[in-house]
Amino acid sequence: MAQVRLGNIVKHYGDSIAVDDVSLTVEDGEFVALVGPSGCGKTTTLNLVAGLLELTGGTIHIGDRQVNELDPKDRDIAMVFQNYALYPNKTVYANLAFPLQMRKTAKADIDRKVRAAAASLDITHLLQRRPRELSGGQQQRVALGRALVRDPKVFLMDEPLSNLDAKLRVQMRAELKRFHQDLKATIIYVTHDQLEAVTMADRMAVMNHGVLQQYDTPEVVFNAPLNLFVAGFVGSPAMNLFPAEVADGGASLLGPEGWRLTLSERNAARARRATGGVILGARHSMIGLHGEPATDRIPGRVYTVEPTGDITFVHVRIAAANVIASVGPDIRLRADDAVWLSFDQNKLHLFDVASGQALRD
Ligand SMILES: Nc1ncnc2c1ncn2[C@@H]1O[C@H](COP(=O)(O)OP(=O)(O)OP(=O)(O)O)[C@@H](O)[C@H]1O
Ligand SMILES: [Mg+2]
Repeated sequence: MAQVRLGNIVKHYGDSIAVDDVSLTVEDGEFVALVGPSGCGKTTTLNLVAGLLELTGGTIHIGDRQVNELDPKDRDIAMVFQNYALYPNKTVYANLAFPLQMRKTAKADIDRKVRAAAASLDITHLLQRRPRELSGGQQQRVALGRALVRDPKVFLMDEPLSNLDAKLRVQMRAELKRFHQDLKATIIYVTHDQLEAVTMADRMAVMNHGVLQQYDTPEVVFNAPLNLFVAGFVGSPAMNLFPAEVADGGASLLGPEGWRLTLSERNAARARRATGGVILGARHSMIGLHGEPATDRIPGRVYTVEPTGDITFVHVRIAAANVIASVGPDIRLRADDAVWLSFDQNKLHLFDVASGQALRD
């Protein structure tokens, strides 16, 4: 397998910019998810790596080679698409053998490679079937197998699970992760589903409007989003974000509804870096709900209650903002109940309103 290095890559379609100066390195054997909303440039980025599109600017290296001018077939990559693109009239065996036949591989070698790929994906018993005789998940594995027999340096995958139903998607997520671990494969995986990225990838590259927003482990992206876009995109339900003014020389925040929140030393130092107002960010699990007022609790009113079984989401209105908090299933709350919110200061996020950037230590 090989490292993939994107150096300031740019792609214009006429006047519009699909990929805007993206630089990142995918290490040898790493599973990287490219994630972001529809139209942010994920597929374009992947197709640039594959060589299916020409760069407007920048460089792409696969291993030691600069591949800017190389044909797709000479880049040693294997693509797995959303629709798998299996040949409907060929058996699974023939589907797997096809890329090797195209390369004029010897028949005995083809047989050995096809059987090895089939065994590693647990589809040996399906080799004589045709794609229409397979479930979605099995077709998925055949598509992976066809990529695998080519022994590529890099796997490129564009939303390969999006055609599957929810249950199968969860199962295939685990299978893909295992596939990666067993093969130590370098994988670039495109998805608009942040949960897929968080659960599978070693690192995730979050894009918006063609611009790379953050590139880090799912844990860091989740716990320390660099800006408001990433904060709102990663995590479900999304991080609660609400505006406040910095007061008392940074010692506290003042909400538009009149509440006041004393900040810890560390958060106060961050708040003092703000150029104007701040946006307070808190994930649902970091918000406490109380039946009585107290210092540093923000008053609100329950809007709706959503039990989901093991966790109950409570939507709370605090005048200017809606906040989603969560409680255990035994806590009984009803619409229009008065509640008071408290925050775990160690898990509080602060963003600069003007720049949208996280306020750092
Ligand atoms: N051939 C093309 N000509 C002109 N514009 C294009 C072309 N292909 C893509 N675009 C535009 O480039 C931007 C990025 O498209 P891209 O397909 O990379 O998005 P994406 O992140 O993969 O989105 P999705 O999640 O919907 O698949 C979009 O604004 C899209 O409209
Ligand atoms: Mg796409």
